[in-house]
Order: sequence, then structure tokens, then C-alpha cells
Amino acid sequence: MGLISLRQLTGNDLEKVRLHRNAPETNHWLENQRPISAESQAKWFRHGGHKSFRIIMLGDEDIGLARVKFNEQLHCTSVGMDIFKEHRGVGLGKRAFREVIREGAKYSRILDLWVFWSNVAAVKIYMSYWFEVDTASPAIHYPRYANHQLGFYPYVRMTKSPDSSGG
Ligand SMILES: CC(C)(COP(=O)(O)OP(=O)(O)OC[C@H]1O[C@@H](n2cnc3c(N)ncnc32)[C@H](O)[C@@H]1OP(=O)(O)O)[C@@H](O)C(=O)NCCC(=O)NCCS
Repeated sequence: MGLISLRQLTGNDLEKVRLHRNAPETNHWLENQRPISAESQAKWFRHGGHKSFRIIMLGDEDIGLARVKFNEQLHCTSVGMDIFKEHRGVGLGKRAFREVIREGAKYSRILDLWVFWSNVAAVKIYMSYWFEVDTASPAIHYPRYANHQLGFYPYVRMTKSPDSSGG
């Protein structure tokens, strides 16, 4: 079992991250499903968009992408996590999220995220670290295909306050 760590995203990571974000298995769970072109990503990078992201590492191998962005208006830090496809389903997401929370806690006491409630693996992880549904923020219903059928799926805000347990 190697050590999980986070590192800054560099220009060398762009193509890998872009392919990961555009892959249907990842894209399905993102709020914004528009495919990212190499040109728009390069522009995003030049403007510093990558500063809100980290590469998740297991030992010296890249295994995923984390988002950590302080929100000045809400005074909380938005976090997020994807594990690269070939590393999913073996417990790494659960382990990695502890590091994502630690990184987020450097910026603010309250953390938040948005997740599709039907994303069982993600919701399980977030709840295991004591994130709770923010009942004050109404769920947004986005169209998604599941089993070849179009439906409207709730996308919910979850928050974690400093007095909750679990990392
Ligand atoms: C969601 C995601 C980060 C989870 O990471 P992971 O490494 O695959 O998850 P883990 O192996 O740590 O499993 C976490 C839990 O979910 C369960 N799980 C894993 N894959 C599952 C699946 N496909 N369906 C249902 N449950 C699943 C595991 O059994 C585990 O539950 P447990 O704690 O009760 O044992 C990863 O699958 C992913 O990147 N998905 C695509 C992008 C995405 O959805 N990002 C999150 C957006 S909010």
C-alpha cells in the first residue's frame, strides 16, 4: 500500500487530464458536460485555472484529480475528486479523499461539494467523511441518460463543518 499525496497540476498533465475529463465514464458525473478542447484547456491553464486542481498520487503514480477552490462569497472551500478509470473500485477514492479534505481545510473551516445523488461510490465516500446534505440549498435536476433512458437526476450540495468527525 503506497502513500497517497497531492501535487500541483503542471502543463505536462494537461492532455491526460483532458482525456480523463472528456471520457464518458467521468463526464457523466460532471455538472458541465461540454467536452474540453486542447485549445480551451491551454487558455484555461494560461489564466491559472489549474491552480484549483491537484493530481492525486499513489507513491509516484498519478491516480486521480482533485479540486480545491476557496469560495470567497460563501467562505468555504469547494472540493471534488475523480479517480482515473483504471484505478477505480479498489478503495483508492476513499483513501484519497482524506488528503483532499486536509488540503481543503488549509483554506477554510467549512468544505462543500456538489454530487449527483445517484453517484453511489462518491456519495458513500463523502458521507463516510461526515459530509451532510445541505438542506438549505435546493437540489438541481440535470438530464442524464441511465440504461439508455433520459431522466432528471438530483445534484445536491453537501457540506462538512469542522466539528464533524471523520478526518
Ligand atoms: C466516485 C469515485 C471518485 C470513487 O472512487 P473509487 O476509488 O472508485 O471508490 P472506492 O473504491 O474507494 O469505493 C468507495 C465506496 O464505493 C463503493 N463503490 C465503488 N465503486 C462502486 C460502484 N461502481 N457502484 C457502487 N458502489 C461502488 C465501494 O464499495 C466503497 O464502498 P464501501 O466504503 O462501503 O466499501 C470514482 O469512481 C470516480 O472517479 N468516478 C468518476 C468521476 C466521479 O464520479 N467523480 C466524483 C464526482 S462528485
